[in-house]
Amino acid sequence: METIVGVDELRLRVGEWRRGGARIGFVPTMGNLHDGHFSLVSIARANADRVVASIFVNPTQFGPREDFASYPRTLAQDQAGLAAHGCDLLFAPRVEAIYPFGPEATVRVEVPAIGDVLEGALRPGHFTGVATVVTKLFNLVQPDVAVFGQKDYQQLLVIGRLVEDLCLPIGIIAAPTLREPNGLAMSSRNQYLSAGERELAGIIHRTLCGMRDAQRAGQPRAAIEAAAIHALQSAGLTPDYAVLRHRDDLTEPGDAEGGALIALIAAKLGRARLIDNLVTDP
Ligand code: PAF
Repeated sequence: METIVGVDELRLRVGEWRRGGARIGFVPTMGNLHDGHFSLVSIARANADRVVASIFVNPTQFGPREDFASYPRTLAQDQAGLAAHGCDLLFAPRVEAIYPFGPEATVRVEVPAIGDVLEGALRPGHFTGVATVVTKLFNLVQPDVAVFGQKDYQQLLVIGRLVEDLCLPIGIIAAPTLREPNGLAMSSRNQYLSAGERELAGIIHRTLCGMRDAQRAGQPRAAIEAAAIHALQSAGLTPDYAVLRHRDDLTEPGDAEGGALIALIAAKLGRARLIDNLVTDP
């Protein structure tokens, strides 16, 4: 596997592949890769002739009090893992390559509505940073398909909307969430958890399962959400939200509405802020 840092070399290499008729699959990441990321690479591999991954800790999607500076950077280990999972090319640009006018002065891509609720409301500017960097990466790599994890469900919707609205000819593939044996969704931020906290964090998935079962049993939404918050707090977590939303646009359903819903949780535990979700219909 080749690692490329510069934009011109990246365009050259991908251009050669494209002229040879290859279909390009893309997996954008911020590094510190785990099995969840590697499953995205395997999915890209199955849907394309060449697989490009990127590692870029994107400054514009972190808030001023978030973990940009301390976000784990593990390039050598990530390179070995990507190579072992069939990635052809790693693009690992410097900040200046992605933001030639500086992160503060960048042209921005905003995704209203879907990007404004839940994570967007709690982390102002987050999805503008994500949408901006992903648009830039899509322009550079020009993939046929790109793979994103369902764990970041709202991010997946934001990317789907930007691709549709900006008429980008890229297929977005949603990859299932990989979980630890106790149900904890795999995430780079899990490493902020102690061994005890990691075990405790299984409550998030159990609570999502409880929300799904209660919704299927026809319980009112307000009661389901209140019970979920109570379960998380009783286990020692600090929930930001535990909600049922429409799956396609994250709007609030009526109190007893069924259909295509999704349960979403964000909660703090120790140094980590964890998010997860589960669709409620079978
Ligand atoms: O999900 C992530 O790792 C990031 O938000 C992404 C999509 C790579 C954009 O920086």
